[in-house]
Amino acid sequence: MTTLELTTPALLVDARALQHNLATMAAALPGARLRPHVKAHKCVALARLQAAQGHRGFTCATIREMEGLAAAGLGDDLLLANEVLDATRLGRLDARVTVAVDSPETIAAAARGGVREVLIDVNVGLPRCGCAPADAGRLADLARRSGLGVRGVMGYEGHVVGLDDRALRVAKTAESMELLRAAHREVGGELVSAGGTGTYDVNTWATEIQAGSYALMDTAYARLGLPFRQALSVLATVISVSAGYAVADCGLKALGMDHGNPAIAGTKVWFCSDEHVTFGTGDEAAIAVEGEAPDAPKDGSALRAGDRIRVWPAHVDPTMAYHERALVVSGPQVVETWPIDLRGW
Ligand SMILES: Cc1ncc(COP(=O)(O)O)c(C=O)c1O
Repeated sequence: MTTLELTTPALLVDARALQHNLATMAAALPGARLRPHVKAHKCVALARLQAAQGHRGFTCATIREMEGLAAAGLGDDLLLANEVLDATRLGRLDARVTVAVDSPETIAAAARGGVREVLIDVNVGLPRCGCAPADAGRLADLARRSGLGVRGVMGYEGHVVGLDDRALRVAKTAESMELLRAAHREVGGELVSAGGTGTYDVNTWATEIQAGSYALMDTAYARLGLPFRQALSVLATVISVSAGYAVADCGLKALGMDHGNPAIAGTKVWFCSDEHVTFGTGDEAAIAVEGEAPDAPKDGSALRAGDRIRVWPAHVDPTMAYHERALVVSGPQVVETWPIDLRGW
């Protein structure tokens, strides 16, 4: 099958770009130095490729992701890097399970649910989960008294990972990791878990990096000049053409939009609505059309209803979660279909 035969919108994963990204990251952060975050793709097939690169531990954001990886035999070392108040489903998993805790309530829930190991989640500057650094030692003592093993600390510098300016990323990561290391001195344990795609080579303090977006990438991370290629696009069909603009059948129900509009190479996206993306076809537009030579883009005025184009999402994680399956492509050939099987909660 080729991309000309697919029902659109269709989520495409470029096999070569993905392979490049996986290999590049595995060379930079081999084995347990990377704990890939599966929330970025929610796909067991892709997690298997990451495991094949040597990363046997995974980071998850939901209980469903933990369950899916355990059922797939990828449960050597699963971290739920998120707080839960009912850990019963985690306690039942046939896997090594570690869960983030940041309060007496989440510690009690872990113990009650039959979880054996925790990380103390520390707020390192992102106003989301995580205890105050000064409380980490006290919480670790409470966890141990509750019968839990404390493997160390985690602290996600999510307010830093997307900063364009590398020098600023370095300085802000250092500040955040100073807080995490101070907490770690009070907590003990072998793990200091932190980081994301934007700080994978900047965060030299963490023992493991939780990057996820690197595998598929998006336009927001592409701005940072990282050595990872955009592997994820949404194939769309042009459904209407007017003077100066055209519309394709891929809107905000097929694209994560919280990082802004998607991109279409060779033109400017005007806006998205539920099932539409509207983009310019004026004088400057030169748009790559599926099935035509990639180095011979069409003038905007030559675009016709029925032409197919690739739309590049601004945020990989929610884009993946909107789709039931991804089609792995090599050029125009569809080589595999992957269910996005870790969706839901
Ligand atoms: C807890 C946690 N760790 C790590 C990440 C890193 O992800 P990314 O690779 O997208 O930077 C995220 C993303 O939001 C996260 O929530």
